[in-house]
Amino acid sequence: MPGDNHKPRSVVQTIDLKKELSLGTVTVHALRGVSMNVLSGEFLGIIGPSGSGKSTLLGLIGGLDTPTSGKVYIDGLDITELDERSLTKIRNEKIGFIFQFFNLIPTLTALENVALPIQFARKRKFNPNRRAAELLELLGLGDRMHHRPNQLSGGQQQRVAIARALANEPPLLLCDEPTGNLDTKSGEVVLQALRGVQKQTNTTIIVVTHDMEVATRADRIISLVDGQIAQDVPSVKEESFAKLKNKLSTGELAPIVTKE
Ligand SMILES: Nc1ncnc2c1ncn2[C@@H]1O[C@H](COP(=O)(O)OP(=O)(O)OP(=O)(O)O)[C@@H](O)[C@H]1O
Ligand SMILES: [Mg+2]
Repeated sequence: MPGDNHKPRSVVQTIDLKKELSLGTVTVHALRGVSMNVLSGEFLGIIGPSGSGKSTLLGLIGGLDTPTSGKVYIDGLDITELDERSLTKIRNEKIGFIFQFFNLIPTLTALENVALPIQFARKRKFNPNRRAAELLELLGLGDRMHHRPNQLSGGQQQRVAIARALANEPPLLLCDEPTGNLDTKSGEVVLQALRGVQKQTNTTIIVVTHDMEVATRADRIISLVDGQIAQDVPSVKEESFAKLKNKLSTGELAPIVTKE
């Protein structure tokens, strides 16, 4: 039907997501009931103080970890009910991960690092080397394809990691502080790369970040405090970001939903 294609659909939905972890005899409430909905093509930033549950949330959304209770839907499918085999399949087909440390294989060239997940894909959509070369070109690394990670700068390595995360064209990209280890200039290049990918392929991107440059460029920002959502706003401007960060660190910003 005309028009239907333009209706944004939910790519990620979490419902009252909780995660408890035991540390010896102590129970840590890493997430205390997080409900959120992320639409197709959105660039969502997640911010919050250290220990507020950002990485935990990302791990649950990506099916790297299971919640104590609550639900995670990816493209409408409840992934909390899946066995490890089906979960691995969803991860491989639908989700790309980018971590703070690039996790590239040191003995492989940039091209080989990016081609690897394509070679391993169960249903191969692309020619591995051709696709890897195209992605590296897209990310401005056309002249670095045959370099190994230790022959690349931090920003270049992170762009290789982005290319690798995109290799099988996942509709969802999860990034945990992708610019955390980079200087401002490299961080900017990585951010541009993510933005470019989002525009060109309508990929949904969720980025956990402390970086103002990243946060102020997101379409929407969720702040986590103590395992709960404290704020969900369309965007933040540079001048209000410092204030927001300050409120988060002083505890002035309290969770919206208080359960129990
Ligand atoms: N394996 C674990 N065992 C016990 N507690 C854990 C474990 N992993 C995380 N936690 C606790 O869960 C809470 C949330 O951790 P999480 O890593 O999600 O925070 P974060 O917001 O990503 O912090 P940072 O900004 O420092 O990366 C913290 O209190 C942390 O100490
Ligand atoms: Mg973290």
